Amino acid sequence: MPAPKFEPKVIFITGCSSGFGLRTAVRLAKSGHHVIATMRDLNRSGTLTDEIRNANKHVDLFKMDVTDKRIIKEVVRAVAAKYGYIDVLINNAGFGLGGFFEDLADEEIRNQMETNFFGVQNVTREVIPCMRQRRSGKIINISSIAGLSASPSFSAYNASKWALEGFSESLRYEMKIWGIDVVLIEPGTYKTKIFYENARYGKNFTNADSPYFTISSFLAKKVKTYVDGCDKNLEDIPKLIEKIINSKKPPFRNIPDIETRILYGLRKILPFRLYSFLIYKTLFSGFQLPK
Ligand SMILES: NC(=O)c1ccc[n+]([C@@H]2O[C@H](COP(=O)([O-])OP(=O)(O)OC[C@H]3O[C@@H](n4cnc5c(N)ncnc54)[C@H](OP(=O)(O)O)[C@@H]3O)[C@@H](O)[C@H]2O)c1
Repeated sequence: MPAPKFEPKVIFITGCSSGFGLRTAVRLAKSGHHVIATMRDLNRSGTLTDEIRNANKHVDLFKMDVTDKRIIKEVVRAVAAKYGYIDVLINNAGFGLGGFFEDLADEEIRNQMETNFFGVQNVTREVIPCMRQRRSGKIINISSIAGLSASPSFSAYNASKWALEGFSESLRYEMKIWGIDVVLIEPGTYKTKIFYENARYGKNFTNADSPYFTISSFLAKKVKTYVDGCDKNLEDIPKLIEKIINSKKPPFRNIPDIETRILYGLRKILPFRLYSFLIYKTLFSGFQLPK
């Protein structure tokens, strides 16, 4: 049987300057799709443009911050003018705010929600009409295992991804009537800039007078050791995204890595008291509050 004819799709991605967004833009452009790669600072587009040029491919590059509704409108309008429609939206842009709740300022928590949650809504709101007209499309939201299982010192990030999970589940029903699919990806830990250059911390995270200073420092060291040793392949994410794009009926929840699938499996089957005891023991073992 002849292979099905390849049909390039118009794919809109947020946060393409590094990590999952960058790798996904490169992979999908190399596969022959029309990739609209957006990022909030075009000075960070070097790796993407180099890789695309070396592969003799093309991407449409736009400066776009997901918290700026005016710019989003302009970019989506420009894409609609060029292509007439959008097949796939990948809401990837995000960052992680670290710190115990009492060490975080209201403003910092709101900023976390502005990007990871409202940012997704801002872009999705503008893109939906470009899909609804044709009664087809896929919205792929990059959530996290942090949207399914919480951990201390990440309450703001957990809340933003938990909100994204609920929003996506509801939107999936709403979009079904138009033939638009809504899908979530929930990766575990991958070594990207989110844990390094792009990591953000609450204003009292490094304040030695904070009652959480010793435990925050203890956990930060533990997380760093874990992330430094993480060798999961970043390509897992673009590969999974491509599979979802090519699939007629992709699953709603998609956890790329086995380690995280096991963790989520435990979360589902164990009584919560036991599950949270294991999380607590794993994260806090070796810590003692100073007298
Ligand atoms: N790495 C992991 O372990 C992991 C696990 C689960 C989920 N995730 C999720 O995966 C997504 C990508 O993260 P990553 O790991 O690839 O980290 P990353 O390398 O730090 O990439 C994050 C991207 O988001 C962009 N971004 C941040 N705020 C933005 C805004 N307001 N407007 C537009 N772009 C913005 C960043 O742009 P700048 O360069 O301008 O900062 C960067 O391009 C995030 O949603 C993250 O929560 C990551």
